[in-house]
Amino acid sequence: MSEIERYLDSKLGEDVDRRGFLKLSASAAGLAALAACGGGTVTPGPSGPTGAEFKLGIVLPYSNVYAELGSSITNGIQLYLNKVGNQAGNRKITVFKEDEKVSTDDAVAATKKLVEQTSVDMIAGYVLSPNAVANRDYLTSNKVPTIIANAGANVISRAKKSDFIYRTSFSNWQPTHPMGSYVQDKLGLKNVLLVYANYPAGAETAQSFRETYTGKFAAADVAPPLGYTGDWAVWVSKITAANPDGIYVFLSGTDSVGFLNKANELGALKNIKVTGSGFFVEQDVLGSVGDRAPVGAVSGLHWALTLDTKENKDFVAAYRKAYNKPPDVFAMDGYDTGRVIVDALNAVKGDTKDPTKFLAAIGAVSFKSPRGDFKFDAATHNVINPVYIRELVKDPQLGYTNKVVATVAGVADPGK
Ligand code: BEZ
Repeated sequence: MSEIERYLDSKLGEDVDRRGFLKLSASAAGLAALAACGGGTVTPGPSGPTGAEFKLGIVLPYSNVYAELGSSITNGIQLYLNKVGNQAGNRKITVFKEDEKVSTDDAVAATKKLVEQTSVDMIAGYVLSPNAVANRDYLTSNKVPTIIANAGANVISRAKKSDFIYRTSFSNWQPTHPMGSYVQDKLGLKNVLLVYANYPAGAETAQSFRETYTGKFAAADVAPPLGYTGDWAVWVSKITAANPDGIYVFLSGTDSVGFLNKANELGALKNIKVTGSGFFVEQDVLGSVGDRAPVGAVSGLHWALTLDTKENKDFVAAYRKAYNKPPDVFAMDGYDTGRVIVDALNAVKGDTKDPTKFLAAIGAVSFKSPRGDFKFDAATHNVINPVYIRELVKDPQLGYTNKVVATVAGVADPGK
């Protein structure tokens, strides 16, 4: 088990012990709420679904550093549900949302509210790695079918894999592992500086990069706090002082916007190669930084707006029509999450009373996604992803976006 995984594990241990989450499952209120899972009120109607309402609980950030990510994932899920008339397996699907915010305390409280007060049938969501880990034992011991739609904590596909949890997004290892060797062998960088948000997802990304990049590092890693709201010049000036030939970045949401705006203002990225895990140059960020986008940046991710497939073009067109803006990778992960839920509900004909059967149906879902082929790895419960190596361009039609320059097919988390 890696250092980061041990950190996540010990954090999980603290959370569970401190608040006694597990005890809750044995409380009268908890048992009553859980007994309601798979049940609910019957909606009569000649043309609509006649089975019990299916309550989908969503825990995503709608505030702070990753608010835009939460909004995109929600939009993606809702877009897919709308496509199928908000029903599957003869059950009307109703969405209940809670704010994940940032801290593990808030994310756990949001989950407990949905499970114990709203009596949801399943949970989907989690953007932050520590929040997925902090909820893992509660969801598992309470047998709540769960889909992680973003949070990449490696441990969820490894030592803390759960029978009750599947992940439709990525592990933090996945987008970066192919990038270390690409940066070294194809881009020829020899003296790299790692720049990442200082929390487990950033640290796991850095660790994954070090597995395949064996060159030198220009200086100690530059690791601003997650959700940094101070003067980004403090961090950008460290890059200039280190004088690397390239940087490898893991930042997302408003962290990436703050970083790129300041780096552009100070001209700090002019003479170096900018690379990273693709979140820092995704469409959400590009929509905010405009002409401050680092054109030429090379990044790895399991999707790009420009993917030239029917599935992606249809998805992008439907998303633009519904929300009047281009989707980003988070919206795509949400859309696929919606599809997995719908396909699994149809497969069990709406019968979710036995969570094991419903979870088996989730694990068996496979389809042609906007990202490419979608299927879960039975060994890890994590999606097997293509990793696209993308270059940031200014496209005459699309504006700032990422075009695919290479593809690494079938990247599966190693599971240990
Ligand atoms: C994470 O915490 O796992 C994460 C957050 C934003 C983007 C990618 C990963």
